[in-house]
Amino acid sequence: MLLPNLAHPAAPSLHEAFKEDFSVGASLGSMSAFDAAERALIVREFNVITSENNLKPARVQPTEGVFTFAEGDALVAFAQEHGIPVTGHTLAWHQATPDWFFVDGDKPASRDLLLQRLRAHIHAVVGHFRGKIKGWDIVNEGLSDKPDEYLRPNKWQQLVGDDYIAQAFAFAHVADPDAELYFNDYGNEYPHKRAKTLRLIKDLQARGLRVDGVGMQLHLQLDRIPYEEIDRSLTAFRALGVKVMITELDLDLVERSVWGADTAEHEEPTATNLGWKDAPPELLQRQAEQYAKLFALLRKHRDIIDRVTFWNLHDGKSWLNNWPVKGRINHPLLFDRALQPKPAYHAVLKIGNAARN
Ligand code: G3I
Repeated sequence: MLLPNLAHPAAPSLHEAFKEDFSVGASLGSMSAFDAAERALIVREFNVITSENNLKPARVQPTEGVFTFAEGDALVAFAQEHGIPVTGHTLAWHQATPDWFFVDGDKPASRDLLLQRLRAHIHAVVGHFRGKIKGWDIVNEGLSDKPDEYLRPNKWQQLVGDDYIAQAFAFAHVADPDAELYFNDYGNEYPHKRAKTLRLIKDLQARGLRVDGVGMQLHLQLDRIPYEEIDRSLTAFRALGVKVMITELDLDLVERSVWGADTAEHEEPTATNLGWKDAPPELLQRQAEQYAKLFALLRKHRDIIDRVTFWNLHDGKSWLNNWPVKGRINHPLLFDRALQPKPAYHAVLKIGNAARN
C-alpha cells in the first residue's frame, strides 16, 4: 500500500507543515486494529495522539474496582516508542459510563458515594498513566445544549451538583500533578456554549484549580462550517489564558438531520443519509476548500491553539460511518480507506506550507 508523498519524500507531512503553529493529531482506537501501513501513516503525519474510546470509564472500569488497562497501555507504548504525546479521553462523561457508578443497591447513589467513586476512578486511571499521559479531558460535554441551561443535567450533575466538574479537576491534579487538565465539549463555537465555557473556566480558576485547556471538538458538516462563530470563540477563549485544543475534528460529507455529536441520537436510513462507496468528486473538492479555509482560520489563532486533532486516522475508521445511521459510508477525514491522501489533505498541507515559505 502506498503512503502519501512517498513519491516526494522531501515533502513535509501534516505535522511538519504546521510545526510553527500547532501539533496535528489523530484519535486512535485499539492498536491491534491498526496494520503496519496504518501505523506508518500515523507516525509520519501526526505528532500527538488521543485515545478515542479505550480510556472511557466503560472500558477501563466496567465493574467497580475491576480495571482494564491493556488497550490504554498498548496505545501509550506505541506512542512512547515514537515519542508522541498522548491525551487521555475521558474521565467524567454522560456516556460510556457504567450504571454501577450511579446506584447504591436499588437507590440512586448519594453525593458522597458518587464523589468517592469519581475520586477512586480518577486516582486509579490517572495514577496508572502518571508520567505517561500528557493531559486529560477531565470532563467531557458537561455543558447543556439548551440555551437557558448552564450544565448538562447528566447523572453527575444531578447526583453531585454543579461542582462535580471542580471535584474532578481537583482529583486529577492530585493523581498526577504534572498532567495537563482540559475541559472538552462540542458546539462551543456557538454563542450560548461559548458563554457557558467562559463561565465554567472562570469558575474553576476562581476556585484555584489547575486548568490547562479548553477543547473544541469541531464535528463539522459540509457547507455548514460556522467560520465566524469559531473565530469569535477562539477570540473569546484567548482571554481565559488557557490553551485551546481542536480535539475531534471531522467534516461530514453525508447528509444528516441531527446536530452536534450526541451518540444517543439516531436517524432512520433515507435515500440521502447512507453515503457512497466513492464520494462524489465535487463534494471532495468542496471538502478540500472548506478544510483549507478552516486551517487558515486556525493558523490565525496559532498563539493559543496547542493542537488540532482529527477524530481518527482515515475515513474507514471514522465514527461517522455509524452515526447517526448505522452502516453509512462516510468520508470525513483527510485520508481515504486505502490510506491515500484526499484533495482535503493536499489543500490543508498547502495552508501549512504557504505559511512556512
Ligand atoms: O467495539 C465494539 C464492538 O466490539 C461491537 O461489536 C460494536 C457493536 O456496536 O460496538 C463496538 O463499540 C462501539 C465503539 O464506538 C467502537 O466502534 C460502541 O458501540 C460505540 O458506542 C462507540 O462509539 C463511540 C462513541 O464516542 C461513544 O463512546 C465512538 O466510536 C467515538 O468516536 C465517540 O466519540 C465521541 C467522543 O468520545 C466525545 N465527543 C463526541 C464523539 C463522537 O460521538
